[in-house]
Amino acid sequence: MAESPSSSPEKGGPSTTATPEKGDKMTSVRKRYRVFWLGGALALIILALALGLGLGLGLRSRNSTSSSAAVSPSPSSTSTPVPTGTPLPGAGANAKLEDWRLDTSSQYVLDMNWDLNAAPTTRHYDLVISEGQGWPDGVVRDMLFINGKFPGPLIEANMGDRLVVNVTNKLSKNATTIHWHGLYQNGTNWYDGTTGITQCGIPAGTSFVYNFTLTQFGTYWYHSHYGTQYSDGIFGPLIIHGTAGESDARKLYDRDQIVLVQDWYHDFSTALLVAYLAPDNENTEPIPDNGLINGQAWFNCSSYSADSGYTCYDNNTYTVLTLPADTRTRLRLINTGSFTEFEFSVDNHSLSVIEADSTLVQPHMVHRLPIHVAQRYSVVLNTNQSTGSNYWMRAEMVTFCFTGDNPVLDATTKAVISYSGNDSIVPSESLSKDWGDATIEICQDLDPSLLVPVEQKIPPAATTMWRIDFSFGIGGNQLDRAKVNGTSWTPLMNTTTLMEVNKGVSTGNASLWEVDGQVTEPWGTDQFVVGVGGREVDVVDVLLYSLDEGSHPFHFHGHQFWILETGSGPFDWTSYHENIYTSKSTAVQNVLRRDTLTVEPYGWALIRFVADNPGLWAFHCHITWHMEAGLMAQFVSRAYVLGGTELPADVTALCAAQ
Ligand code: C2O
Repeated sequence: MAESPSSSPEKGGPSTTATPEKGDKMTSVRKRYRVFWLGGALALIILALALGLGLGLGLRSRNSTSSSAAVSPSPSSTSTPVPTGTPLPGAGANAKLEDWRLDTSSQYVLDMNWDLNAAPTTRHYDLVISEGQGWPDGVVRDMLFINGKFPGPLIEANMGDRLVVNVTNKLSKNATTIHWHGLYQNGTNWYDGTTGITQCGIPAGTSFVYNFTLTQFGTYWYHSHYGTQYSDGIFGPLIIHGTAGESDARKLYDRDQIVLVQDWYHDFSTALLVAYLAPDNENTEPIPDNGLINGQAWFNCSSYSADSGYTCYDNNTYTVLTLPADTRTRLRLINTGSFTEFEFSVDNHSLSVIEADSTLVQPHMVHRLPIHVAQRYSVVLNTNQSTGSNYWMRAEMVTFCFTGDNPVLDATTKAVISYSGNDSIVPSESLSKDWGDATIEICQDLDPSLLVPVEQKIPPAATTMWRIDFSFGIGGNQLDRAKVNGTSWTPLMNTTTLMEVNKGVSTGNASLWEVDGQVTEPWGTDQFVVGVGGREVDVVDVLLYSLDEGSHPFHFHGHQFWILETGSGPFDWTSYHENIYTSKSTAVQNVLRRDTLTVEPYGWALIRFVADNPGLWAFHCHITWHMEAGLMAQFVSRAYVLGGTELPADVTALCAAQ
């Protein structure tokens, strides 16, 4: 039975050790957000099933804890002019880093002396998942931490290395998983971290070790793949270095730095999800309260009235990135958010795009760069402007894609770029200028044809093709559900699609499992599983067709795909069969390869992948709310190989422990 959504961790959770300090102003107020109380136990059961997870942390009244602003220390003496002017909000003599905040000013700057050519080695990491209270933008809330910090630590390795990551779940009752977003996991599908597909959750109070080798390089991230859990803080950057490819790219930059951009909510995700999935609610995704850059931002505390129920520290402040004058910095942008597409820009500075989802591309100059949830881009920024000012970094939410308003939201999330000198000064209004280019009015990707991969890979001709249609609609019990070719995903309980296929094939029922096409055994309409590459390696085209008015950042696990065509309206089947399927067309050249692409409202995307990776691979919209509404398909590749594989005992044991 589901527990009340208002259940909560112990007061003063494990990571909150600060005590109130004199002079901290607080605004204490009542909840703006109300959990929907449903009439009757039946509705709760349905909802719990719909959520696919035990309702965990929820809303509670805020208790007072202290805060002080986190501003990186001012650099010491410098020969360049030092900007003067208005201090950043929250900057002050007592500024310090709270102990739950990751010091991203040091931890997210990559070491340019890192040895790209080091002999392959095994790298060990420990990730301890816990709950507590934090205030990334000044508003105190229940949230989740990794190793007691937010955001999560950098995981860094070389291609060819083995990663051994011990995840310890210290949550009070919920399970967790970690997914390695963008990694192929060829030969280790069971370490992909996907609840109900490749593993059952790691139960509270236990540990689980992920162990796999890295066969690729670029900018990735890791995050919980258990319900909407990553929205509450369980994620971090994962950077894998390459040899030749990366050393070529390094000629374009002198510094290397991670920039996480995301939306942020002031309420726990399970409470938001209950409201979103409540009966008779259609297309009402929760509108974010703020955005964060490297886990921090400014919020105007006076947006909340005195009785809103929130505690807000008004000495919250912006992230400051110190980038010395006349240097070129590679900014590795990762959208770690739940719902929002951003347009990223830096005042006065054009940006040269050199990577999209780990594919290095020929430099392409932009003023503004759209980045949707779970996508990554690297851009090179040259600090060649006046040294007399700091500059705003802007992540502008594409609010056209929201279906409602949030009165407290400032849609421009900002950070400060400081060349040197006084980094706690507001950028000068006369020197730091936003680009005049119009912002986009539809949630879409940068035109993929503008990004040309450095390493040419021509897609082979297709051997099979699937069309996947998706939409949203009010279904049974008035609940808003996603439909994927008539199905709506909920995670399996006590088993995974991987375990079922593995068992099914190896016990002699190959004809039921090892099919090219939809695998219907033994599932009902809550799993949409497509079999590809049963005996041979298939080259698969997927036409992903949206019958929905929203935009959807689709991610495919375990692969990069080629983007062959995108569009809206009718799809030209004749030209497809004549030219594209056979790879005769000029449309099939050295096109962009990535792992997450945006499907526009009522639009479609034609992608191609090589089904050479045995496993169960999730293919889903990365908007956390949509995934929980069921917007998920799966491909089972090379079931024949899977049938002959013994799954590690510690993986199958997770399901027995549920
Ligand atoms: Cu970033 Cu299914 O994951």
